[in-house]
Amino acid sequence: MTEKTKNIVILISGAGSNMGALIRAAQQEHWEVLLGARVAAVISNQPGAEGLALAQALGVATQVLDHKGFESRSAFDTALQALIDAHQPALVVLAGFMRILTPGFVAHYAGRMVNIHPSLLPAFTGLKTHQRAIDAGCLEAGATVHLVTADLDHGQILAQAAVPVLPGDSAETLAARVLVQEHLIYPQAIKAWLKLL
Ligand code: GRF
Repeated sequence: MTEKTKNIVILISGAGSNMGALIRAAQQEHWEVLLGARVAAVISNQPGAEGLALAQALGVATQVLDHKGFESRSAFDTALQALIDAHQPALVVLAGFMRILTPGFVAHYAGRMVNIHPSLLPAFTGLKTHQRAIDAGCLEAGATVHLVTADLDHGQILAQAAVPVLPGDSAETLAARVLVQEHLIYPQAIKAWLKLL
């Protein structure tokens, strides 16, 4: 790697399907040649996260930092920041990373940390977004890629995709329809943002 390589560090807690879509896009579209960017590592706060095996199968190094081993949120975030920064990342990608982040951690990565949220922000910040969209009678739902700021799910919007809410949808069927779009827009939004970094 040259000094100029734009390292991407992905944080996960679970299945890692968005992580997988991002790694595949980076590999198949030759981001290393095109953008000088590569996925340097995947870090999980959950030792059992399914996405760890997927990352390894795709040839990306993984690390686990179990939050349960820390006495406070800030102690965990300090350790996580050190682990991330060892990779000298241009961009930190949250991909189903189920942690509330401390303001200092967020500030440290200002403008270079992105998230994907399964709603059409600013509607439905927080959890259970699909059920809430169904309950509200929305005709459309979707996903949003945004910069991470201290205000949860409120950072600058980088990309969105909408899908219909269909009669008879459950949270699960709607989530599956949204997830297909997440896998398309997240890598492309990241690619576009990387060009500006
Ligand atoms: C996705 O729905 C994403 O929008 C949300 O968490 C979920 C992660 O799924 N932030 P996966 O781990 O990428 O499969």
